[in-house]
Amino acid sequence: MNGLRHLMTPMDFTVDELERLFDKAIDIRNDPAAYRHVCDGRILATCFYEPSTRTRLSFETAMLRLGGQVIGFADASSSSSVKGESVSDTIRVVSCFADICAMRHPKEGAAMVAAAKSGIPVINAGDGGHEHPTQTLTDLLTIRSLYGSLSGFTIGLCGDLKFGRTVHSLVKSLVRYSGIRFIFISPPELRMPDYMRDMLDLKMIPYEEVIRLDDCLPDLDLLYMTRVQRERFFNEEDYVRLKDFYILDREKLSRARENMHILHPLPRVNEISVDVDDDPRAAYFPQVQYGLFVRMALIMTLLDMTDDHMNKGLLKW
Ligand code: CP
Repeated sequence: MNGLRHLMTPMDFTVDELERLFDKAIDIRNDPAAYRHVCDGRILATCFYEPSTRTRLSFETAMLRLGGQVIGFADASSSSSVKGESVSDTIRVVSCFADICAMRHPKEGAAMVAAAKSGIPVINAGDGGHEHPTQTLTDLLTIRSLYGSLSGFTIGLCGDLKFGRTVHSLVKSLVRYSGIRFIFISPPELRMPDYMRDMLDLKMIPYEEVIRLDDCLPDLDLLYMTRVQRERFFNEEDYVRLKDFYILDREKLSRARENMHILHPLPRVNEISVDVDDDPRAAYFPQVQYGLFVRMALIMTLLDMTDDHMNKGLLKW
């Protein structure tokens, strides 16, 4: 796509490239001062047509901590999309102002449409129920850091597996590593889509589908909880019926292994009780911090910043 490197899906990076990205993220965490001026003079645009706390703020913080600056909109209603401007036109305009863009949109494929017309790297910050690649980079880095490896574990993914873009991106990424067993925990209405299960069948990756969380908890090395997403439902009645299907609380957690890590892309609603937050297995707030470091590493990678740029603040303009 126009000779630029974009991020539409985590599969846009090879496993080796991901390793380098994660190593860079850890280096940034260990020595943030060394990266303070890497992006001096660079501008990140955040074009968010859908609400966000973590993704938008962590992208903006990432660019600010690299010495760059940030422009953008946090709400479609404050952009000219309400006047009918297309995503293609918006990105052509944003390309005149910024060096890189993170875009979130409720429609699947919107970031891809933008990338096709963009003069700057575009990062898919979530497109409808399709993909959320930077959440997956966050999740993979968190798992690698906590578990010590991206291979050889049993992971339970629980909640909205039908509309959950984070679980789709994560599963597609994890199948590239060895010895991973998936347990999909959902009500039948929110089970993993056919195309995902077909992909796993084709690759002969072991997975099970269960309805009750309690039954499989003792088997898990990692539990990835997700929220039932009100905004993806076509009617309120179905949402209300399913929204509290899973609630992980201290009592349930007593059935899990002492070293099982609990991840969640957040936001959380009721699916993890706040009394779990102090449990050493709860990793969802440290996970947010890993998201910042990996987005800093990603911005550097897509802007093709080498270590030569460190501490020098090389200007593009
Ligand atoms: N995990 C995540 O995408 O959170 P936000 O919707 O707050 O960005």
